[in-house]
Amino acid sequence: MTALTQGKGGPPSLLHGNRDQCLLHDKALSATFTRVCSDPPAIGWPGLAPPKTRYIPAAGQAALAQHILPGQPGHSTPRAHGQRPAMEADDGTEEPSLPLALTRFQVSEEFGFLLPDPLTELPEPYSPWMEVAHQLPQLIASHRLRSRVHQMPQLSARHLRGREELHLAHLVLSFITMGYVWQEGEEGTVQVLPRNLAVPYWEVSEALGLPPILSHADFVLANWRRKDPNGPLEIENLDPIITLPGGESLRGFVLVTLLVEKAAVPGITAIVRALHAILQHDEETLQRALEELAGAIEAMREALRRMHDHVDPAVFYAVIRIFLSGWKDNPAMPAGLVYEGVSEEPLAFSGGSAAQSTVLHAFDELLGIRHSQDTAAFLHRMRNYMPPPHRAFVEEIQRGPSLKQHVLSCRDRRLRGAFNRCVAALAEFRSYHITVVTKYVAVAAAKARAGRAEPGARAGPALGKAPSALEAKGTGGSHIFSFLKSIRDTTREGMISA
Ligand code: HEM
Repeated sequence: MTALTQGKGGPPSLLHGNRDQCLLHDKALSATFTRVCSDPPAIGWPGLAPPKTRYIPAAGQAALAQHILPGQPGHSTPRAHGQRPAMEADDGTEEPSLPLALTRFQVSEEFGFLLPDPLTELPEPYSPWMEVAHQLPQLIASHRLRSRVHQMPQLSARHLRGREELHLAHLVLSFITMGYVWQEGEEGTVQVLPRNLAVPYWEVSEALGLPPILSHADFVLANWRRKDPNGPLEIENLDPIITLPGGESLRGFVLVTLLVEKAAVPGITAIVRALHAILQHDEETLQRALEELAGAIEAMREALRRMHDHVDPAVFYAVIRIFLSGWKDNPAMPAGLVYEGVSEEPLAFSGGSAAQSTVLHAFDELLGIRHSQDTAAFLHRMRNYMPPPHRAFVEEIQRGPSLKQHVLSCRDRRLRGAFNRCVAALAEFRSYHITVVTKYVAVAAAKARAGRAEPGARAGPALGKAPSALEAKGTGGSHIFSFLKSIRDTTREGMISA
């Protein structure tokens, strides 16, 4: 096992550098990048203790107010705690609206955590960013990206309006940044992100409450377009908006992950129904919601299967992976990265990973899955990489009524069966994910080491060989797999015994 794999608790990220320790700037991250959670959900659960956390310091609201316009999905008028919004029922009486109404957390009934129909172009003044972003694979392959970035004008992010523009700007600047940092592979990294990239990137990140690095929210949630605008959300009709080296495999990696997010949507809506059914002691509805949740998790597993059809392990391992790597505890960038014009000290952030997807965090909280201390600490840190309203959604579920306690106290066999089907499906998903990671990381690493990588491994535009520091981690592999297995096993332990 290399030094890289000897972490203090989290997994060594085979994808993106070691995430074992608290982010160097975890404090800065929470202080700076959580301050603009735009949608305060803190109205509380009826009959339960009031939430401990308020999400929006006033400064954060002010910062976002200039970007999120009233009436847009990200906008909400701050509400006093305990004050519940009301809607008119058919009979004219007022009914309390759901404490966990999805829109308040920027979660869509149709798309879940995916950004609904993301923007694909920024306003004209930002065309220098878009032009670079659209040519990333070629610029990286020809080693010209860094010089192109140096020629970009210094633009302010202040003129970006609304959540959609901000998300596209974050996506574009994140991809340019990853390309800039990793253009020459792990042996030719940079120490400084130039001011004309770093300053607007920081501004956009602050406005969204996201860290200034590529995260799952960029790579997948905001990075999709339909080829036929009226066509279905199927892989044949989809493309990423921005890509990196890796060709069809990069496309497949983004889009298969998107399909997993999409498959989760009925499960996300079922969470809301389940929690309300608990409050209303409506066991019929609760059981139906749990059956739906189980079905969604099973469908996520089926969607994950499609990775094999669309992503070549050798290309994933040798070409794609490095561009997702962060600069926290990464021996290729031991000092982190200076964001010129933002901070004189280098900053350290973890790279992009589906561990930052809100889906499994939400399911774990609903089902009362308790992971071991170390793995839970890592997963919680990953929440800092989620859009703040999505993180707030998970925290709201955590504060809600306990599903498990309710099922235990009901002594209803069918309810218990439905609950256990959810937990079993979640453990199955995690088992299958381990199989995928084995193929795309451990086996691919062994092949790369043995020099037996498939021809596709050399097809990457810029990188002829797998990054060796990352490869070293893949060789040991034990830590990452013990991490993933621990999460899978603690999931299984969440079952209610007969
Ligand atoms: C080639 C495909 C994939 C590979 C190689 C891969 C690899 C990994 C690795 C190495 C980790 C450990 C933590 C980290 O380094 O970030 C991880 C965690 C995780 N991955 Fe993946 N992953 C893949 C696809 C996916 C997809 C499509 C999803 C679903 C959206 C997913 C969901 C997760 C989750 C939720 C975790 C956190 C651990 C857990 O909650 O079980 N992964 N993945």
